[in-house]
Amino acid sequence: MVNILGVEGSTNSTGDDVQKLDVFANETFIETLSFSGEVCGIASEENLDFIDLPIDPLKKATYIVVMDPLDGSSNIDVNVSVGTIFGIYKRKSPEDGPCQISDFLQKGSNLVAAGYVLYGTSTLLVYSTGDGVNGFTLDPSIGEFCLSHRNIQMPTSGNYYSVNQGYYLKFDLEMMRYIDHCSDLNYRLRYIGSMVSDIHRIMFQGGIFLYPNTRKYPKGKLRLLYECFPMAYIVEQAGGTALTCKLERIMDVEINSLHQTSSIVMGSKAMVQDMKEFVEKYGPVNQ
Ligand code: AHG
Ligand code: MN
Ligand code: MN
Repeated sequence: MVNILGVEGSTNSTGDDVQKLDVFANETFIETLSFSGEVCGIASEENLDFIDLPIDPLKKATYIVVMDPLDGSSNIDVNVSVGTIFGIYKRKSPEDGPCQISDFLQKGSNLVAAGYVLYGTSTLLVYSTGDGVNGFTLDPSIGEFCLSHRNIQMPTSGNYYSVNQGYYLKFDLEMMRYIDHCSDLNYRLRYIGSMVSDIHRIMFQGGIFLYPNTRKYPKGKLRLLYECFPMAYIVEQAGGTALTCKLERIMDVEINSLHQTSSIVMGSKAMVQDMKEFVEKYGPVNQ
């Protein structure tokens, strides 16, 4: 049997227990990207610092990749869907020198492409280069991703909400009131523990995903650079909205460190608009 499940034994940049598959995914992506000739630097959830790839002078690698190699690590050992999240930037520093931290600390609005892969009943790549979102399903018989979902448009509303409701009492008042509202309206709660999977449902069926700040994570838990920015990019490209719990557009949030975290609320436009009204009514200025 392949020894690929279970904990690896260390913790990562944000203190999570690292699983063997996190390490395997991270190493596989780094190795593949290193050989592409297009990428000069990588920032990953699993590496404290960015990785500066050796430059091949013939190939002029100008792209920076940010990634969460395996999203939903708590699902691995119980055979539930996991994903991969990635974002692509153009480097800012001179092409003939090493990458700089400033190449990575770019706002979401500078992304040139982003996407996710969902490893579910099929393996699906959902990807955008800034002109809409398309989905590509892996055909294992030929080893290629084939266009299967053209121009994905998120419904403007829906009846799913996705939040770790176990933290309800640790949320700010406005989030509690909004979650009460979702429950009053009989929205259906779905929470897989892998943002990729939760967002994927919302992309097709409409809904709202929330990971608010809590007392344990006063600045939110999800990582801005390689979780929030790429997913917000995809959500916006599909016609949805992505905000922090302070109602700032995720794509415009200032980034100061590789593993910076943020609160996030994203999904169908009309539902995020509804949530905004709760923040305006019950948020800090009104308490
Ligand atoms: P990762 O597995 O890359 O650490 O990310 C998991 C993230 C996100 O995908 C998910 O929605 C959330 O963390 C789950 O966290 P809680 O268990 O705190 O709800
Ligand atoms: Mn993740
Ligand atoms: Mn991860």
